Amino acid sequence: MHDLFEIMRTTRAMRRLKPDPVPEPMIRQILEAGTCAPSGGNYQKWRFLVLKDPAVKQAVQVLYKRAYDEVIGPRYATSAPPPGSDPAKYARQHAAVEYLTEHFHEAPVWIVVCQDDGNAAPSRMAGASVYPAVQNMLLAARALGLGSTLTTRHMMFAKEADAAMGLPDGVHSYAILPIGWPMGKFGPVGRGKLEDVVFADRWGVPYAG
Ligand SMILES: Cc1cc2nc3c(=O)[nH]c(=O)nc-3n(C[C@H](O)[C@H](O)[C@H](O)COP(=O)(O)O)c2cc1C
Repeated sequence: MHDLFEIMRTTRAMRRLKPDPVPEPMIRQILEAGTCAPSGGNYQKWRFLVLKDPAVKQAVQVLYKRAYDEVIGPRYATSAPPPGSDPAKYARQHAAVEYLTEHFHEAPVWIVVCQDDGNAAPSRMAGASVYPAVQNMLLAARALGLGSTLTTRHMMFAKEADAAMGLPDGVHSYAILPIGWPMGKFGPVGRGKLEDVVFADRWGVPYAG
């Protein structure tokens, strides 16, 4: 698929992935799309770990699941559906989140998005230099028919997860993209209304463009 707007409209969180391998040239194409993104000062301090090692993925999945059991699961059980959703859709999202939690490590390939922060702590400013690359890679995966999801939950145990992945001092992970062939179909994204989140000139004044 090549129409950018159609790709954006159908780049959903694809959490149910087949374990079948993904051809290496596709992974390379996704990584190249990532490194087309801008970064602050064009410093390109992003680093990408292409992770297929089952034992390492499993070690991180244990942390990912612990975060679900302790925080995310209980939150889903008590929170209201987000904008553009409804109770039935939200229940399906919850089921998919639970599925990925159990099967995280079974995605054939992960792209772990890292940054060489040196002595600086990971921050909002630092993240702004890697998340454009993340979105480029999600769009590229979608364009190739591959499924993925932006995940950050492992960061609830960031130190342990980074150590399990063997990241050197000063390098931090900012996202894990589990990538594989989707079990389901790509549908349209469902978000809130533009009018609810866009203002004109003054905060609270509806945008009427
Ligand atoms: C910053 C960020 C962190 C996210 N972390 C996770 C995660 O750890 N696990 C997960 O299953 N989904 C994660 N998501 C995916 C969102 O839950 C997902 O985009 C949202 O449910 C909308 O899904 P949809 O695009 O299929 O409509 C994350 C998304 C963002 C933007």
